[in-house]
Amino acid sequence: MKHLITGATGNIGSLVTHRLIERGIRPCIFVRDEAKARELFGGAVDIRVGDLGASQRSLAAAFAGMDTLFLLNSGPDLAARDRVAARAARTAGVSHLVKLSTLDVLSGVGTGPWHAQGETAVQESGLDYTFIRSAGFMSNALYWAEAIKTERVLRSSTGDGKIAFIHPADIADVAVHALTTRDLRREAVVITGPKALSYAEMADVVGSASGKRIRYVPISDREARFGRDAYAEAVTDIWRAIREGRLTTTTDAVQRIIGRAPYSFEQWVTENLDEFIERGRTRGTRAQS
Ligand SMILES: NC(=O)c1ccc[n+]([C@@H]2O[C@H](COP(=O)([O-])OP(=O)(O)OC[C@H]3O[C@@H](n4cnc5c(N)ncnc54)[C@H](OP(=O)(O)O)[C@@H]3O)[C@@H](O)[C@H]2O)c1
Repeated sequence: MKHLITGATGNIGSLVTHRLIERGIRPCIFVRDEAKARELFGGAVDIRVGDLGASQRSLAAAFAGMDTLFLLNSGPDLAARDRVAARAARTAGVSHLVKLSTLDVLSGVGTGPWHAQGETAVQESGLDYTFIRSAGFMSNALYWAEAIKTERVLRSSTGDGKIAFIHPADIADVAVHALTTRDLRREAVVITGPKALSYAEMADVVGSASGKRIRYVPISDREARFGRDAYAEAVTDIWRAIREGRLTTTTDAVQRIIGRAPYSFEQWVTENLDEFIERGRTRGTRAQS
């Protein structure tokens, strides 16, 4: 089986790529920046350079010879890109497309509608698919790191609302399972972390791990908002939904699919503690095996 991984220089795609390599598989990665890819994976991967915004024809050429495709698209136009990529994959003879999606396709919150349209486009291509409908990532907590380090506060407009963030390693393990077995073909799996926590509770977890008191400071959506574009609007919509208690879903899908419990937020914080207490380390989530 030959696997093509998109998003391989990013958060989830890099973990998926590392995991395949750890299993003795030589993945092929589709990247914009070859030098960045070589820095991450050395000679352990084959590289195809391109852009997911390219034409169907050019993507079909890039996907030639592949059996599976891990597809990661971001932003408001991701559904159109999913459509072009899925059609290109079909033309190229790919048999299975694994799309990183969001559980918000079910709630209609945030980027959910974009991914829902992307899923439809993939289904319409006629390819076998797996949709990984992931909860919010624990690594989103890195956005709090600067304020926690410098002011010992976590500001958010999510109030007392809770969400079961998932460890990126769990997403990667589920993706690798989907790519390397037939178990999840034609399925949409909803994966979450083990427990829904409020942002105040997550501040306490960081505080306990770092031995410092981290204060949770509730602010308004307007104060929290970081921009005026569609992505900033989608993220604000997610904060609102968390605050209103609409995103508390937890599932047992990680346990069911990969045979172990999902990692806790405490574990993620322990692995990434340097991000919250000292300067000078590169951002990132350590891969686990
Ligand atoms: N954050 C959450 O809580 C959450 C929850 C559920 C689902 N999701 C979904 O997860 C996805 C984001 O995953 P992530 O955090 O792993 O992303 P990420 O770390 O931002 O990485 C994005 C990757 O995509 C690549 N990329 C971007 N534009 C490209 C293009 N035009 N052509 C080819 N490659 C391109 C980037 O390459 P470069 O290195 O060249 O930039 C990078 O490798 C999105 O679909 C998001 O909706 C996120």
